[in-house]
Amino acid sequence: MSAPKPEERYTAKQAVFWWAPRELFAAGVRATLAKTFGDYADRRETLAALTPHAIPPSSDEPLRGLSETSIAPTPAIMIFSEIESSPGSVWEEAIDHPQSMGTSGQSARGAATDYWFDYVADLGDGFAATYSVAELLARDTLTVDDHTLPRGQLLLMGGDQVYPTPSDEEYRNRTVGPYTTASLGIESEPRLYAIPGNHDWYDGLTAFINQFCTEQRMAAWKTLQYRSYFSVELPHGWWLWGIDAAFEARIDRPQMEYFREASNRLREGDRVILCTAKPTWLSCTVANNDEEYRILRNFITETGADVALMVAGDTHAYVRYEEPGGTHKIVAGGGGAYFSGSAAFPDGLRLRETRSAPPIDHTKAAVFPSPADSRKLYWSALWRLPRALGFVAALGVFAVFLAYLLQFAVVRRAGGALNDVIADVGGDGIWQAFLQVAGSGLTFVPFLAVVALMFAGAYALANKGAGGGRMGGVPFGAVHTTAQVLTAMFVTAVAIVAAAGLDPSWLWFFLVAAILGSLLTTLVFTLYLIVASLLGRNHNELFIGIRWSGYKNFLRFRIDSAGDLHVYALGLRHVDKRELTWDEHGNPKVSGQASTPTLIDTITLSGTPHGT
Ligand SMILES: [Fe+2]
Repeated sequence: MSAPKPEERYTAKQAVFWWAPRELFAAGVRATLAKTFGDYADRRETLAALTPHAIPPSSDEPLRGLSETSIAPTPAIMIFSEIESSPGSVWEEAIDHPQSMGTSGQSARGAATDYWFDYVADLGDGFAATYSVAELLARDTLTVDDHTLPRGQLLLMGGDQVYPTPSDEEYRNRTVGPYTTASLGIESEPRLYAIPGNHDWYDGLTAFINQFCTEQRMAAWKTLQYRSYFSVELPHGWWLWGIDAAFEARIDRPQMEYFREASNRLREGDRVILCTAKPTWLSCTVANNDEEYRILRNFITETGADVALMVAGDTHAYVRYEEPGGTHKIVAGGGGAYFSGSAAFPDGLRLRETRSAPPIDHTKAAVFPSPADSRKLYWSALWRLPRALGFVAALGVFAVFLAYLLQFAVVRRAGGALNDVIADVGGDGIWQAFLQVAGSGLTFVPFLAVVALMFAGAYALANKGAGGGRMGGVPFGAVHTTAQVLTAMFVTAVAIVAAAGLDPSWLWFFLVAAILGSLLTTLVFTLYLIVASLLGRNHNELFIGIRWSGYKNFLRFRIDSAGDLHVYALGLRHVDKRELTWDEHGNPKVSGQASTPTLIDTITLSGTPHGT
C-alpha cells in the first residue's frame, strides 16, 4: 500500500521568482560552485565505486516484471517469473504469460497486453503547477479525445526535479509532498526512475541520491535505482535509457562502462528511448554549441544503440522534431516550472552525426503552445515582472546611483552645490535640465566608465542563451544601454525640476530619483526584454519575469501487444490557483480545479516484435 503517513506535512511553495535579487545572486553562486567542485569530486564516480557489482533487491521488496538493469556495470536482470508476484500488481495484470519470459535477459519481451509508462520533467517548483501535473499523472486513467490512457506502471522523471536548489527539505516541499498528496488514491506500486537536471546537481547530487537512489518511496512510486542513470528493459525489445551528463560536461567512465554493458544486452532489432536532462540537439543548433551534442552523439556511437526516440526537458515547453525515417526528438519540460516560451524553437534542426557526415535535416513536427499563443504573453511582462519588488528596488538603487553621478557632473561643471544647481536649473523646465544633465554626464569620465560597465552587462544579458556569433549581442546591448542612459538623464532632470522650491531640495531630488528611477528603469528593462524576445533573443529572461503557470505538459507511452510504441503528449493550457490546507487529522486538502489535459501530439513508432 502506498498511502503516505498523514503526519508527513510539508509546505506548499510559491514558484521561484528568478528575477528576485536573492535568487539571481544565489543562482550564480550555485552554478559556479557546483561546476567547480564537480570537477574535483564527481559524485557519480563515488556512487559507482560504492556499487561496483549488481545489487539485488532486498527480498521483502521484490522487483516485479521489468528487467532491471539500473544498477551496475554488470547489471542484475530480474526475472518476473522467478519472483512471487503479489496480488494486484500492475505488472501481473499487464503480462498474460509471465512464464514466457525466460532467463538471461529474456524477460519482458513478450507482453501480450499494453504496457504503459509516463514521463515528466522540470517539475518541483510552485505548488499549483507541480500539483496540477502530479494529480493527472496519478489518476487511474485520463481520457483525451477518443483515447483512454491508464496511468503508467513506471514514471520517469527527466531532470530538474526541484527548484531552485536541491535539499531534502526542498524535495519534500516542492516535489515529494505535492506528489504524495496527488497519489493518495494509488493502490498499486508503480516504479520511478529519475535522472538529474542541472538544478538537481547544484548540491553535487547529494539530495538527489538520498531521494532517488536509496530504494525509497517517492509518494506512491517506488524508486529502484542506485545511480543517477539507468537502463530499463521494457516489453518487445524497447529499452529506456536515462543518462546523466551532469552539466552536459561529460559522461563519467563508470557510466560509460555501464551503458556499454547495457548495450551488450541489446538484441538485434531492439530500440532505445534515450532520456537526457538537456536537449543538446536543440542547443547545438540554437546556441551553436556543438560540444554538448557531441557528447551525446559519441555516447550513441560508442554504445551502438538504435535510438528511436530522444526525450529531454530543460526547456519548459513542448516541441518535437522529426528526422525522416530516423529518430524523433522531443522536448517536454512542462512538469511544473515556469513556461519558458515556444516561439523560439527553430522550424528545423540541422544536425551532423559526425564531423564529416552531411547534416541531417529535422523538421518541427509539433509544438505546444503555438508560437502565437506564446507571444501573446510577452506584453504581460509589463505588469508581471515588476511584481519582483526586490528587483525593482535593486534597479531603484542603481537609478539613484546614476542620478548621483549625473548631478555630480552638473555640479562639477556649474560650480556650487546640488541645492544651487537645483535653484539655477530647476526653474528652466525639464528639457533644459535634461540638456544640462546630458551635456555634463557625457563629459564626466566616471559616468562614462559606469556606462561602459552597463554595456558589458547588457551585452552579456543579450547573449544569454542566444545563438550565432557573440557579436549578435552588440546591437541589443547598445540599444538597451542607450535607453537606460537616456532614462537616467531624464530621471535626473525631472528630479532637479521637481525639487526646485522644496526644502531641503537635495533630499527631494534623491526621493524623486529613487521613485521615478525604479519605475522607469524597470519599465525600460521590461520593454527591452519584450522587444528582444520579439526579435529572437532573451526569451527565457522574459519568461522568468512573466512566471506563467499554464502551458504544462507530460508524456504517456504505450507499448502495444504488437510491439509498437505510441507516444501521447498531454498539455495543460491552464493551471488553477491551488491551495493546500491540512485538516485536524493531518489530511491534506487542495482547493481549486484540476486542469483538463489535451492531446497536443501523438506518434507511433514501430518496434520489432520479439518473443511473442
Ligand atoms: Fe528546468
